[in-house]
Amino acid sequence: MADTKTPKKFRSQEWFDNPDNPGMTALYLERYLNYGLTREELQSGKPLIGIAQTGSDLSPCNRHHLELAKRVREGIVAAGGIPFEFPCHPIQETGKRPTASLDRNLAYLSLVEVLYGYPLDGVVLTIGCDKTTPALLMAAATVNIPAIALSVGPMLNGWHKGKRTGSGTIVWESRQRLSAGEIDYNEFMEIVASSAPSVGYCNTMGTATTMNSLAEALGMQLPGAAAIPAPYRERGQIAYETGKRIVGMVHEDLKPSDIMTREAFENAIVVNSAIGGSTNAPIHLNAIARHLGIKLDNDDWQAIGHKVPLLVNLQPAGEFLGEDFCHAGGVPAVVMELMKAGLLPHPGAVTANGSPIGENCGTVENLNPEVIRTVSDPLKKDAGFINLKGNLFDSAIMKTSVISKEFRERYLSNPTDPDAFEGKAMVFDGPEDYHARIDDPALGIDEHTVLFMRGAGPVGYPGAAEVVNMQPPDYLIKRGVHSLPCIGDGRQSGTSGSPSILNASPEAAVGGGLALLRSGDRVRVDLKKGTADILISADELQSRRTALEAAGGYHYPAHQTPWQEIQRGMVDQLSEGMVLKPATKYQRVAQT
Ligand code: FES
Ligand code: MG
Repeated sequence: MADTKTPKKFRSQEWFDNPDNPGMTALYLERYLNYGLTREELQSGKPLIGIAQTGSDLSPCNRHHLELAKRVREGIVAAGGIPFEFPCHPIQETGKRPTASLDRNLAYLSLVEVLYGYPLDGVVLTIGCDKTTPALLMAAATVNIPAIALSVGPMLNGWHKGKRTGSGTIVWESRQRLSAGEIDYNEFMEIVASSAPSVGYCNTMGTATTMNSLAEALGMQLPGAAAIPAPYRERGQIAYETGKRIVGMVHEDLKPSDIMTREAFENAIVVNSAIGGSTNAPIHLNAIARHLGIKLDNDDWQAIGHKVPLLVNLQPAGEFLGEDFCHAGGVPAVVMELMKAGLLPHPGAVTANGSPIGENCGTVENLNPEVIRTVSDPLKKDAGFINLKGNLFDSAIMKTSVISKEFRERYLSNPTDPDAFEGKAMVFDGPEDYHARIDDPALGIDEHTVLFMRGAGPVGYPGAAEVVNMQPPDYLIKRGVHSLPCIGDGRQSGTSGSPSILNASPEAAVGGGLALLRSGDRVRVDLKKGTADILISADELQSRRTALEAAGGYHYPAHQTPWQEIQRGMVDQLSEGMVLKPATKYQRVAQT
C-alpha cells in the first residue's frame, strides 16, 4: 500500500521544475542560479529547506544562530536537502522600544509571507530570545509546512563574588539594594553585567528558557535541544542533527499540525508548571494554538496546570541557572519525572524526531535531583497559574507558588479568611506615571495598598509592557516592605518572581473594568474563589462606565509608528493570545 504521507512532489518543484509552465519555471530558476546554485541541485527533486534566521547584531540573545546556521546547513546537505537561509525581523526583548512584544505579531506576519510565498519545503526555526520563539512557531502553525525549532541555548551561568547571578533576576534584586543604599550605581552595573558571561539567551527560567523548553515539550525540537548552553559543543552538534532531521520530516510530511495537537499543548502546560515557567507562556501558547485552530484558554491553564508541582530549581523561583539545568538532564529529565508520577497527560504525543515524547524521555536519567526535583520532593506544590475573574476583568493570571512568606503573613493570614485580601487601590496609568509618582509620600501608599497598573495592555501600551511587577516606594522598602500586591493589564518579566495578578483582559484601553477603578477604592481578591473585584455597587460601576464612555473611553498615548496603529486596530487581548484577529482566519495556508 502506498504511504499516503509521502508527497509525490515537493512544493518547491512547482517553482523550479514545472514542464507545464516552462516560462515561469525559467524565470524562477535563472535568478536562483546567480550565486552558484546549479540546475542539477534545483531540479533534482531535493527538498529546499529554509533556515529562518533570527540572529543579528541587533539581537544579541539569538546572534549565535549566525554561527549555528553553518552546522544546520551541513546537516541539511548531508541529509540530501538544499539550505536557504533568510533573515527574520529582529526582536530583542530588552532593547526594543516601546516593548519587544509589539513586534511578535509583525515577525509572525512577515515569516508567514516568506514561508508561503517562496519555494520552501520545510523550515528550521531558529528560536531563543523571548518573543522569537512564539513568533516563529505561530508562523509555522499558520503555514503548516514541515518545521523544526532549534534553540540558540542559554548563556553560561553568571557569577559575582562566588554567587550565581541570573539574567533579569539579578536586576530586580540589585535594584532593591540600590534603593536601600546598600550598593552604588557602579556596583549595580557590575553585578548586572556579570549575569551575561557569554553568547546565548537569559540563563534564568525567564520567558526565553520557558518558551524554548515548551517548544521542546510541544514536540517541535529534538529531545534535549532546549537546555544545551549556547557555547557548548553539543549545541553545534544538535544544530547539525536538526538540519538533518528537517529533511526527514519533509520526506515524511510531518507537519506542525501533526505535532502541535491539543494533547501536545496539554503536555506543555504541565511541563510549564514543573519548570516554573513564565507568566508569558499562556499568552504565547494560546496564540500558537489559535493559529492552529485549537481551542486553548486560561481556564485550561488552571485546570491542567495549577496542581502540578515545581520541580526545576532555577532562578527566579529557585537557586540554579541554565548550565545546571542542562547538566541535570534538561527538559527530557523533567518529562521523565512527570511520567514516573503519572502526571504527563499524553506520553503518546508525537514529536519532531518522529517518536512519541514518552518514548524519547521515559528512560532518561535525572542526573541532579537538587536541580530537577522529583514529584515526591518538589520545590513547591501547585506551581501552575490560577485564572481570576471579577468586575475588574474577565481573566487575569497569577502564579500562586511565588507568594513569599512576607507577603503571605501580611496579606493572607486572617484565620477566618486565609485565601483573600482586601486593600486600598493606588492606580497608575502606564509605567511613566508609576515612575513619576511612586515615591511621592502624599499618595499615602502603605502596606495596605494594592498597586494597579493600567494602560499597559496590547492596545494601551502597544504590545503590552512588562511593567506589572511594581516595586513599593523607597520609604516602604527601607521599612522592610519588599512587595505590595500588584494587579494590572500589562505583563511581567519571566525573570521576576513577583506574585502579581497580570495579563488582565480586557484591558483598560478597550473598556475593561480596570478603566473604572479609582485610587482609594477598596478592592478584594479571593484566591480560593478566583475572584478580583472593586467593592462598589453595580449602580456606581454603571455610572462610572457611562461617564467613561461620555469622555470618549480610556485615553492612551498616541501611535508613534505605522505598525503601532495597524496592530492596535486588530489585536486581541492577552487572554486570547494577543493575536491579530484577522490572521486567525488563515489556517494551514500551504495546503490551500
Ligand atoms: Fe533576550 Fe532574555 S533578553 S533572552
Ligand atoms: Mg521579558
